[in-house]
Amino acid sequence: MHATSRTITSNQTGPHEDLARRVARALAHPLRKPVADHTREAFAQAHAWLAERPMPLILDAGCGVGLSTRRLAGRFGDHAVIGVDRSAHRLGRNHGALPDNALLVRADLVDFWRLALAAGWQPVRHYLLYPNPYPKAAQLKMRWHGHPVFPTILALGGRLELRSNWRLYVEEFALALAQASGVAAAVEPWHPAAGNEPLTPFEAKYHASGQALWRLVVDLPYPLAREAR
Ligand SMILES: C[S@@+](CC[C@H](N)C(=O)[O-])C[C@H]1O[C@@H](n2cnc3c(N)ncnc32)[C@H](O)[C@@H]1O
Repeated sequence: MHATSRTITSNQTGPHEDLARRVARALAHPLRKPVADHTREAFAQAHAWLAERPMPLILDAGCGVGLSTRRLAGRFGDHAVIGVDRSAHRLGRNHGALPDNALLVRADLVDFWRLALAAGWQPVRHYLLYPNPYPKAAQLKMRWHGHPVFPTILALGGRLELRSNWRLYVEEFALALAQASGVAAAVEPWHPAAGNEPLTPFEAKYHASGQALWRLVVDLPYPLAREAR
């Protein structure tokens, strides 16, 4: 397959100078924005679905059309895989029946993640696959590592994997991770294995356009159980 997908252009030449301040602020001031009712309802449904599947959990955060959710559910048949995206349009694309161990949820991750943490969810794997890059310097606060919800993402624990076609996004994420948790994670080139399907449509598109892909994988601890604190 050949595709032409534009590479990221940014007015940043290195990590954003405001990153450390934003991460410090997120750590000092947990997000208090009220959770939207529709996300509370979507989360309750997901929680009930999960309760019927006593299996390790995989979260596919920002799953788009849900292809990765389906593929992960196939690859990890003894796991419950939940894909979350706010776009009804993307989630509504027909990519065939969902396996019984996969669920697609329409919700805003900023709220969904906070509800998941409060409910004690502990994903064994947590994927952030090709998040919107928001490449303009003024958009730092919209990147997940510049967002006030960043500490919540880390607090969910498990094996967190970020992939992007913008190296600087992954580098900034690694810096924010080190600042917030003291954990060092390598930024490495990511080559979808020859003969294997790319995991997501964006991965397929960037790969077919000859763009370099980057990833970071980190094993994060789970928070102490409430009663043990
Ligand atoms: C660039 S697309 C990548 C989609 C998919 N992971 C892939 O690789 O094909 C980013 C996705 O994140 C979703 N997204 C962005 N912000 C979100 C939020 N706050 N809550 C839920 N989904 C969000 C968008 O709707 C979009 O589908």
